Amino acid sequence: MTSTESHVYPVIWQKDQVLLIDQNRLPAEYTLVEISNSDDMALAIKTMIVRGAPAIGVAAAYGMYLGAREIQTENRELFLTQLEKVAEKLRATRPTAVNLFWAIQRMLTTARRTLGSVEYLKELLLETAKNINLEDLQTCRSIGDYGLEVLPKTPEKLTILTHCNAGALATAGYGTALGVVRSAWREGRLARVFADETRPRLQGAKLTAWECVQDQIPITLITDNMAAHCMKQGLIHAVVVGADRIAANGDTANKIGTYSVAICAKAHNIPFFVAAPLSTIDFSLVDGSQIPIEERDPSEIYQIGKTLITPECVNFYNPAFDVTPANLITAIITEFGAVAPGELKQFEEKQAV
Ligand code: MRU
Repeated sequence: MTSTESHVYPVIWQKDQVLLIDQNRLPAEYTLVEISNSDDMALAIKTMIVRGAPAIGVAAAYGMYLGAREIQTENRELFLTQLEKVAEKLRATRPTAVNLFWAIQRMLTTARRTLGSVEYLKELLLETAKNINLEDLQTCRSIGDYGLEVLPKTPEKLTILTHCNAGALATAGYGTALGVVRSAWREGRLARVFADETRPRLQGAKLTAWECVQDQIPITLITDNMAAHCMKQGLIHAVVVGADRIAANGDTANKIGTYSVAICAKAHNIPFFVAAPLSTIDFSLVDGSQIPIEERDPSEIYQIGKTLITPECVNFYNPAFDVTPANLITAIITEFGAVAPGELKQFEEKQAV
């Protein structure tokens, strides 16, 4: 049996501070950034040092604790009011990935529901952040194993296409879409991964490729516009992607370009799976039209590195995510099993806050 345990943990609690793998520097450099206050955590999320929906949630949970630690009062009500301000600061970092809001809410609810001194609340918040971290790791392993059950039965060894990075780096470890890939690799069901490079931030080329190389999972990198051609040639047996926010009807926001991949998969009769924890489902939204889509700086598309690739006088539009309609999704793979997008509602009560 092949070992597929990832040894990549993007968010680490160590000696009273958080260490983040700087994802802006990979694959050229593996660097850990030390975060010891909530302002720095908010900046790290905003500037994408840490990224990927579940990883952002874990980082925000630690950010809440760091913020709590900074509050200088013994008065419980004052403490809770100031903790809400920390929450506001962290919420303002990125709008689309709902795990950020879910984790912040869980931290706030834990503090509000618990009686005891401010000192005790602070200890409890650290423990809760550690639990969110650990739970996400376990969740990803379950997603990986449930994913195995729904992958096509033939051929025996599959080639799976993925978009963006939904691996260990984007979670507490192991990954969601790459978790399914890891589980398939462990069971001898994977021939190789095809990774879209994922313009403009190149998460596929930089992060997914780096992770697969770390764990010796065979990977072929393609540019985003090659997916349809590869499908037509019969090179792809299934698509598995992650998610940043899933509406109650199964419409799924994920990295820009995911929607095109889903359309291509449908046209070629290839199953298209979304792998995500329940913390990525936003049951308050009826459908995907309500999901806020982050727009990022145009410099991400008009230059590569420091080189301009287009005249500056053209207009730019740089949405970071798109929404894949539920009817293009074969199944959503969660830690409680894989279901058709229309059947997500059954999980609503399991979503713990
Ligand atoms: O802008 P990013 O890099 O944070 O976007 C990441 C993605 O879109 C991932 O595919 C998604 O968060 C799933 S992570 C398991």
